[in-house]
Amino acid sequence: MPIQLRNAADGIAHFTKPFCSSRLAYWEALAPHQQMRFTANSIGGVVMKDFAQKVAVITGAGSGMGRYLALLLARAGADVVICDVNSDTLKETERLVQGYNVAVTAITIDMGDKSQVESLPEQVIAKHGKVDLLFNNAGVTVGADFETMSEKDWDWVMDINLHGVVNATRAFLPYLRQQPEAALVNTSSIFGMIAVAKQSVYHATKFAVRGFTEGLAREFKDTNLSVHCVHPGHIGTNIVANSRFSENDPDIDAKAGALGLSGSQTEMADLFRHHGMHPSRAAKIILDGVKSNRRRIFVGLDAKLLDLAQRVTPMHYDKLMPLFMVPLTLLRNKKPLKDLPI
Ligand SMILES: NC(=O)c1ccc[n+]([C@@H]2O[C@H](COP(=O)([O-])OP(=O)(O)OC[C@H]3O[C@@H](n4cnc5c(N)ncnc54)[C@H](O)[C@@H]3O)[C@@H](O)[C@H]2O)c1
Repeated sequence: MPIQLRNAADGIAHFTKPFCSSRLAYWEALAPHQQMRFTANSIGGVVMKDFAQKVAVITGAGSGMGRYLALLLARAGADVVICDVNSDTLKETERLVQGYNVAVTAITIDMGDKSQVESLPEQVIAKHGKVDLLFNNAGVTVGADFETMSEKDWDWVMDINLHGVVNATRAFLPYLRQQPEAALVNTSSIFGMIAVAKQSVYHATKFAVRGFTEGLAREFKDTNLSVHCVHPGHIGTNIVANSRFSENDPDIDAKAGALGLSGSQTEMADLFRHHGMHPSRAAKIILDGVKSNRRRIFVGLDAKLLDLAQRVTPMHYDKLMPLFMVPLTLLRNKKPLKDLPI
């Protein structure tokens, strides 16, 4: 029998009733203490309001945002498992975290190596017994035209930025799902929203991380697991120093153009670090985003404006970028948060 709707309000009520009643049934089935943990938000699920006594795994913790995520989580009372391919910088993060009264485990690992990633949860469980938070933060890039980029460079970025995130998520999910409240935090980029030249492989990974993460956010809505995608703008980290330029691209100016900077890689790395938001501030924004259950966590006004620009003019946002990038670079907060050991 055809459905007869008398007016718009009738229509809305008809189509939303099954959805609302199933959510109500779900809500009523929860114990009061579980209901207390819920905070209303657009997608539902448990909200982690406090990191004390949690166990957090952070990849790429030897530098930049990963290092400060580890420090801020430790300061908040979480035990941290810090992972990085660079054992020297990882040791330094470990030393810094040891200033807080929490357990820390440092694991040297290549997130681009599937078998190493698959063995990670066992090591974490053996030491800490559980995992509450996973920060898939490690990332690299290669600045090069696609035409001249070697397949080796392409695979290097894909393996770390995309397969590393997917493999770690798959490996840790069973453990995250056992906890009363858990969070998965995948780092994409504002370059997962907009594209520039000479970053095709980075875009391929960061757009994919965004799609993967937003899909998971929907699959795990109304569960113990909150899923977040992070979109930083320009953060003053070592990412340029830690990344590569194509061996096959002899054009120095073109390499510089990929990042809107000029000079050698060392000079560009210094400029990039100097002009970005301080990574401690970025880490705080990310953790605040988890606590307020934001599914997309934009880090910096540049990220927010670039996202807005691509919504307003999807094919011409690149023409708007120069208008606000210079003022934003000048205004950005480059000072570290107070009361941190570094
Ligand atoms: N800095 C920015 O402006 C910016 C903007 C958008 C997104 N991001 C993303 O933020 C994340 C953190 O980067 P960052 O800016 O702090 O850079 P960073 O270079 O300072 O830190 C990244 C860390 O990842 C580690 N790493 C690299 N390859 C690895 C591997 N194979 N296995 C394990 N660890 C590895 C590096 O050794 C380094 O310690 C990355 O995913 C990056 O793509 C950064």
